[in-house]
Amino acid sequence: MGNVTITNHPLIQHKLTLLRDKNTGSKEFRALVSEIAMLMCYEATRDLPLKEVEIETPVSVAKTRVISGKKLAFVPILRAGLGMVDGVLALVPSARVGHIGLYRDPDTLQPVEYYCKLPDIEEREVIVLDPMLATGGSAIDAISQIKKRGPKSIKFMGIIAAPEGLDALCKAHPDIDIFCAALDEKLNDHGYILPGLGDAGDRIFGTK
Ligand code: PRP
Ligand code: URA
Repeated sequence: MGNVTITNHPLIQHKLTLLRDKNTGSKEFRALVSEIAMLMCYEATRDLPLKEVEIETPVSVAKTRVISGKKLAFVPILRAGLGMVDGVLALVPSARVGHIGLYRDPDTLQPVEYYCKLPDIEEREVIVLDPMLATGGSAIDAISQIKKRGPKSIKFMGIIAAPEGLDALCKAHPDIDIFCAALDEKLNDHGYILPGLGDAGDRIFGTK
């Protein structure tokens, strides 16, 4: 497998348990997705490049560090990836945000693209957001779109992955780093992750 990190921090694991619970309603579900995304973003940005700067404190001069290079770009995959945006922007408020709209055809499970609006991502580090990595089709497709625009690097940040999707994503894009909070058991016959959390988009937006 490629560069896969399972973020098993206790706070993330605790929140993930609440997220999986079928009795968790949309309001709490949305808050949890956002909080988990924020905690995962802390891990996913651990290797951001820094540069030295000199600033004046009220009493002296300090040689200190700031993040260097162009600003980060986050790209949520609609719809469910939208639930992660607030959390990551809380940590990186100046990041750019692009959107890729994909839905899975319920019969073929193949991703169907209906929207793509990306900022200038040339030479930027891009983090793709989607809580669910099931067959991997949506993430693979979104990352292929992003690669055409020449980003500096791409990371994928999901919450729950199925082994099938993780394997497919690693094979299709071996050059990206992948962050997930859980690697579940398998997919069911309808392409849903087991035990998973159900349909992430429906639970975030209260649809069915
Ligand atoms: C869900 C989820 C992912 C995709 C994962 O979206 O948010 O984008 O399925 O499945 P895959 O790995 O097999 O491609 P869905 O197609 O349900 O669209 P929605 O978020 O608009 O409801
Ligand atoms: N999409 C979801 O929202 N949930 C799954 O389990 C699989 C794909």
